[in-house]
Amino acid sequence: MSALTITPAGPLKGTIAVPGDKSITHRAIILSALAEGDSAISAYCRGEDCLNTMRAFQAMGIQIEERPEQLRMRGKGFWGLTEPAQPLDCGNSGTGIRLMAGVLAGQDFFTILTGDDSIRRRPMGRVVKPLREMGAAIAGRKGGELAPLAITGSRLRGLTYTSPVASAQVKSSLLLAGLYAEGVTRVSEPRRSRDHTERLFRYFGIPVQEDGSTVSIQGRPSVGWAGKPVVVPGDLSAAAFFIVGASLVPGSDVTMTSVGVNPTRTGVLEILTEMGANIQVLNRRDEAGEPVADLRVRAASLHGIRIGAERIPQTIDEFPILCVAAVLAEGETTITGAGELRVKESDRIATMTIELRKMGASIEETKEGLVIQGLGAMKTKRLRGAACTSYGDHRVAMSMAIAGLTAEGATQIQDTDCIETSFPGFELKLLELLTKNG
Ligand code: S3P
Repeated sequence: MSALTITPAGPLKGTIAVPGDKSITHRAIILSALAEGDSAISAYCRGEDCLNTMRAFQAMGIQIEERPEQLRMRGKGFWGLTEPAQPLDCGNSGTGIRLMAGVLAGQDFFTILTGDDSIRRRPMGRVVKPLREMGAAIAGRKGGELAPLAITGSRLRGLTYTSPVASAQVKSSLLLAGLYAEGVTRVSEPRRSRDHTERLFRYFGIPVQEDGSTVSIQGRPSVGWAGKPVVVPGDLSAAAFFIVGASLVPGSDVTMTSVGVNPTRTGVLEILTEMGANIQVLNRRDEAGEPVADLRVRAASLHGIRIGAERIPQTIDEFPILCVAAVLAEGETTITGAGELRVKESDRIATMTIELRKMGASIEETKEGLVIQGLGAMKTKRLRGAACTSYGDHRVAMSMAIAGLTAEGATQIQDTDCIETSFPGFELKLLELLTKNG
């Protein structure tokens, strides 16, 4: 189990590329595996989460050549997957296990999906229940609430489903199952979650209808889809650590190139801008149906704001790092309606509260959110270095590293292997930005 020691450091400067988007990489692997013929997925996320999805499809007979810059896949068509000889290990990935559950529910073979300790604690009932309503045969611990999940492929029928949570994983799982179902599958959610599945479906030529926060798909398409090249945008959720780092460390000026700016993901940019951050969105363009831009961030003085339930889905993965921004801003930040944070890789409301308190932050948990009194770091008070832990949660680990940059004294973060799940080379990128000073 590795650790990371961060000592307070001077400005972050330079231009970097961040890893490919994790959500889009999972989806590109899945749709390329089900396509007919060759696809090349460039600038993909090489994090363990996506590599586990890649290995799962290799275990189901898909030929994938893994190169550092590109995954070369040979899809075998809509019915081309074959039964894996072993359980499929999704590692730490909620996206991997939930999306694959949707694909596997409609096959004509048996699979077991499992993952690490964290994944085996996370709620699976949110996909298992509607998939069963579609006719899926899924068994799991606690009546299917927890992984491992054992799936006996079945003949599915379309479903009209209203999800109680805004979750792209639930929506995407059902849309993927919907491809294999007879009739139409329609998913509504309380607020619109990220729409990468819908965009990639269209990019591959699979028709999908959207009406507000309802998405529907016609099952069993009469013709399949061909493989295509996919260029994956940089992951805004990975960029967020440096966006906050550059905002907080005086004198910083960082540019990140080709970052995904899909409006269902850009809550972090809007919230930080409202807090006073200096973020420029430059050179907007499109890649594989996704909007992309370069982001330039310069240090600025931040102030607290109120963040309500309506802004949670498009910011869901950025709350750990937004907590760091709020702790160092001037005044109070309140976050409400964010109960979903309790069922991520860790309970992020609890873990961020405990860890930032160790550094002297004033942060209180509520049932579904947080109340943070900012130190106003640009003025007098600072965080103090502390011995922290990640709880095996990659985003907690990287957020605490950024907090450490601004602290007095060294911060040690235990259990940082988890950073590999989404951001291999995070420490090197940080060093790169710190050595370009002056
Ligand atoms: C993801 C959706 C989000 C997000 C996760 C990735 C996806 O989860 O937190 O990191 O790729 O669909 P939910 O859809 O469960 O909110």
